[in-house]
Amino acid sequence: MARFNHNKHHSSTTKLVFLISCAGLLGAALIADFLWASSSSAAPAYLSIASSWALEKSGILVVQNVTHNIAHHKREDVKDRKERIPERFLPATFADLPAPELQWEEMPSAPVPRLDGAAIQIKNLLYVFAGYGTLDYVHSHVDIYNFTSNTWGGRFDMPKEMGHSHLGVVTDGRYIYVVSGQYGPQCRGPTARTFVLDTETKKWRSMLPLPAPRYAPATQLWRGRLHVMGGSKENRHTPGLEHWSIAVKDGKALEKQWRTETPIPRGGPHRACVVVNDQLFVIGGQEGDFMAKPGSPIFKCSRRLEVVYADVYMLDDEKKWKVLPPMPKPNSHIECAWVIVNNSIIITGGTTEKHPVNKRMILVGEVFKFHLDSLTWSVIGKLPFRVKTTLAGFWDGWLYFTSGQRDRGPDNPQPRKVIGDMWRTKLRL
Ligand SMILES: *[C@@H]1O[C@H](CO)[C@@H](O)[C@H](O)[C@H]1NC(C)=O
Ligand SMILES: *[C@@H]1O[C@H](CO)[C@@H](O)[C@H](O)[C@H]1NC(C)=O
Ligand SMILES: *[C@@H]1O[C@H](CO)[C@@H](O)[C@H](O)[C@H]1NC(C)=O
Repeated sequence: MARFNHNKHHSSTTKLVFLISCAGLLGAALIADFLWASSSSAAPAYLSIASSWALEKSGILVVQNVTHNIAHHKREDVKDRKERIPERFLPATFADLPAPELQWEEMPSAPVPRLDGAAIQIKNLLYVFAGYGTLDYVHSHVDIYNFTSNTWGGRFDMPKEMGHSHLGVVTDGRYIYVVSGQYGPQCRGPTARTFVLDTETKKWRSMLPLPAPRYAPATQLWRGRLHVMGGSKENRHTPGLEHWSIAVKDGKALEKQWRTETPIPRGGPHRACVVVNDQLFVIGGQEGDFMAKPGSPIFKCSRRLEVVYADVYMLDDEKKWKVLPPMPKPNSHIECAWVIVNNSIIITGGTTEKHPVNKRMILVGEVFKFHLDSLTWSVIGKLPFRVKTTLAGFWDGWLYFTSGQRDRGPDNPQPRKVIGDMWRTKLRL
């Protein structure tokens, strides 16, 4: 059996990493990195997503004291002194919430780094699908992590017609439904194609396509039906409010067409969608996303307005959405970042509202808990770094997460490196 064995990390020297609490809002707040380019008047009409993927060498501003305008300017080629930020502004780390320390252990990295991939846990196996390797390269295969042996292995291909990122995924414990999602690299649009994987035979089957393509739709199985709602429409940006369902059993649709359900109160991609205690929850997410630059032959990504939400919606009677207490802060890119433990939903990482001054994306480094008895949120710990679109799992008392895009460092919450890292911590709720 082809097994990926402890990539880079020797089993006997598995590192125990003790996190240093950032004391984020105090000490670290005094030194904050800002990317200058996006707030300058010279900003291009289309801000490239590439800036989120590679450290920009120029235009880094270091602020020593937030009540001081500017203490030090690293950039040497600034010609116009007016470019300096004229007023008081927030440190880059302002969005971090106080959180207890957790002891994280680094496990073997995934065979490939992936961003905007998807994951489904079935017993002790985490099936990890698709995702960007780089902005110009998307994966078209599945990797499997075994929580018992703590090894990766069992790679197999996805169907050629299946989306490569921003998929809607859900399982009944054997069959994995893979709905719609983006087809191809950069900022191409979504496909309506939908597939089912039988995890016992590793065979794929095509299913009735969604009525319309959706990008990162909220997807769940509830009361015998596959529910798909929200996400973005074909242009990747416009929120979809539509909600469809279809009766399914043992990997097959029992109906000839999708049924139209009560629209979701707020559309948009990148939300956690969870069924627990016979209730369907939709948590966080955003409206808007990067779009393809008009006329670009490679569908080059360009940044557009995004608004991130803390909203929690719940269905318990199939007719009317209920509004529940919001997350401790707006959080998006969490579609596969959740697990259910002891009647709580645990969510790892994400992205929050953009920085009000430099407008950059800000990653989330906290672990959140939504207690389903009391319907209350709490922050139960910090991740080893801030990271979005993590793929989370829970096994034998351990909370695991892998993949996604991490921050630039403790003082800089902007996205940088796409990772395959796997980490775990012993959870005590
Ligand atoms: C920051 O600058 C202000 C204004 O000069 C000063 O009053 C304050 O003590 C400084 N804070 C720190 C932590 O250095
Ligand atoms: C997972 O690992 C355990 C322990 O090594 C092993 O017994 C089991 O067969 C593995 N599962 C798969 C599907 O490989
Ligand atoms: C979940 O609850 C059980 C029973 O009370 C307890 O033994 C276990 O430690 C809890 N799990 C976590 C992760 O806190």
